[in-house]
Amino acid sequence: MPVDGVAVTAIGVAVIRARETEREDRLYSDPLAREFVTAAEAGFDAERWARMEALADQFYPGRTIGVRLVDERFGEAIEAGCRQIVLLGAGLDTRAYRMDLPSDVHVYEIDLPELFAFKEPVLAAAHATPTCPRHVIVADLGGDWRKTLLDSGFDPSVPTYWVDEGSLGYLNNDWNQRVVRTLTELSAPGSRFGTGRLLVDPDAPQYRDLRTFVAGDSATEPLPRPRPDDFDVERWLDELGWNTEFRSWNDMTAHLDRPSTPLDPRIGNIAAVRR
Ligand SMILES: C[S@@+](CC[C@H](N)C(=O)[O-])C[C@H]1O[C@@H](n2cnc3c(N)ncnc32)[C@H](O)[C@@H]1O
Repeated sequence: MPVDGVAVTAIGVAVIRARETEREDRLYSDPLAREFVTAAEAGFDAERWARMEALADQFYPGRTIGVRLVDERFGEAIEAGCRQIVLLGAGLDTRAYRMDLPSDVHVYEIDLPELFAFKEPVLAAAHATPTCPRHVIVADLGGDWRKTLLDSGFDPSVPTYWVDEGSLGYLNNDWNQRVVRTLTELSAPGSRFGTGRLLVDPDAPQYRDLRTFVAGDSATEPLPRPRPDDFDVERWLDELGWNTEFRSWNDMTAHLDRPSTPLDPRIGNIAAVRR
């Protein structure tokens, strides 16, 4: 079980999804999230688990709405003909189980070995069954994940929806750009990719707390920080061969029955479709 390092962030998101699922006015339902949380808590000491819960409190309002928005993008991508979905840094995502996806849609979950060493036994103990073919891709996105994905049956001629939900972080970091170059090469026309435009202040207290928590006893910071430049993601994606459309957070959340603090209108999602 990951108790520190980047994989631990996946447990924090499961805490958020479990809380949302237990609300009467829930934005989505993810019953397996509670299974992960219960299993994870047993492996943490009380002080570290309390810090995990406190971090989940800080990120909850925005992050839980974000889960619902990605659920909606899933529906749009399938409707538009995508028959492969690749979760980049899948974490404890259970959309292959909870969203009643059609049986001709293949879901590929990419994440680190320590994540799946925790996730798969919990799913097995819960007797969870996906509604569509699900492929576990144990790989480091900073390494050669392309071959592992192709070897597992991924077909580059089929339109694909690539999901970055809180895993790539900042596309102005070199390794993230390598990931996007690779997925571009693997994308048939009509494929979709979405990434956030966050304008995050890396020194805001919740991001500082998150980095310290994830670092654990390690002296180095495993989470990427944005580089202080004005990298233009949309122009870069356009040069790679993607049409992009920006949707502001405020517009994307307007239809939800959940108060959300209006944000800077430059914050939102860049939706890209491969030409
Ligand atoms: C904040 S979690 C988000 C997980 C999931 N997308 C969700 O929303 O629940 C980030 C995930 O990215 C994974 N990750 C981070 N760096 C990675 C890398 N280099 N290769 C593969 N996975 C990575 C972590 O293990 C973790 O599961």
